Amino acid sequence: MTAKIIDGKAFAENLRGRIAGHVARLKSEHGITPGLAVVIVGHDPASQVYVSSKAKQTVEVGMASFKYELPEDVTEAELLALIERLNADKQVHGILVQMPVPKQIDPNKVIEAIDPAKDVDSFTPANVGKVQIGLPGPVSCTPLGCLMLLRDQLGSLEGKNAVIIGRSNLVGKPMMQLLLRDNCTVTVAHSRTRNLAEVVRQADIVVAAVGRPEMIKGDWIKPGAVVIDVGINRVPAPEKGEGKTKLVGDVEFSSAIETAGAITPVPGGVGPMTIACLLANTVTTASLIHGLVPPSDLTA
Ligand code: GUN
Repeated sequence: MTAKIIDGKAFAENLRGRIAGHVARLKSEHGITPGLAVVIVGHDPASQVYVSSKAKQTVEVGMASFKYELPEDVTEAELLALIERLNADKQVHGILVQMPVPKQIDPNKVIEAIDPAKDVDSFTPANVGKVQIGLPGPVSCTPLGCLMLLRDQLGSLEGKNAVIIGRSNLVGKPMMQLLLRDNCTVTVAHSRTRNLAEVVRQADIVVAAVGRPEMIKGDWIKPGAVVIDVGINRVPAPEKGEGKTKLVGDVEFSSAIETAGAITPVPGGVGPMTIACLLANTVTTASLIHGLVPPSDLTA
């Protein structure tokens, strides 16, 4: 069997179209223009690329985009003061501080300074708790994107065996909460899990988020399983020429495609969904800030 390749780019494009429709309604019916502020510290090239494409897509769906570039040596106090200003700014409905931040800054202090009502990453303890108990609010962008792709593939997830590989606060843990809410039986595996191949073989749904290039092999995958590969790893690609590199996921795509029922590619799978879900979260927070019910098709 050859797996269906899940086109995250096309799904994200469709999602952005729906977001643009909700933004247009917020403007015309309520006079609200959702605004997203993105803060980047330093000059990490990969972060610069992410932040630029976030700003571009924010504007494309009709929202206001505010970008703050701070120098690498900015103090923690200066960054916290900017967050305070953005918390108070009525034009700003979402605040994202691009991680990682330089070492003089404590990322936990940054996260706790963000008003949970504007926390479009869903990093604050208040929003982590809301996701856990199923209250409305922003949901971590990458897990939300994975959930949307899974529901699109499978319809109901009820009763499915889901194995998540990776227990990070960013992906593994919120993914666990979302899959539990959709009535999956969830296993969270990680670097200390024994017999990982055997654990993965039980899964109808595999979410790979370990950050190790091509670690999960095709013969670990149950025939017909849906495989969501969150990994984005840059590795040498000598076949493309000396010094060249390529992006690969946490799953060995060439072998997994032989056993899986459906699989996300890297790039072009989960990646495009993350930014689209950030925009979706900004519509959610803008709606909630103004006492409106957020659109149900943009959240978990
Ligand atoms: N750095 C890499 N991914 C993310 C993300 O989703 N949010 C933030 N704030 N920083 C990141």
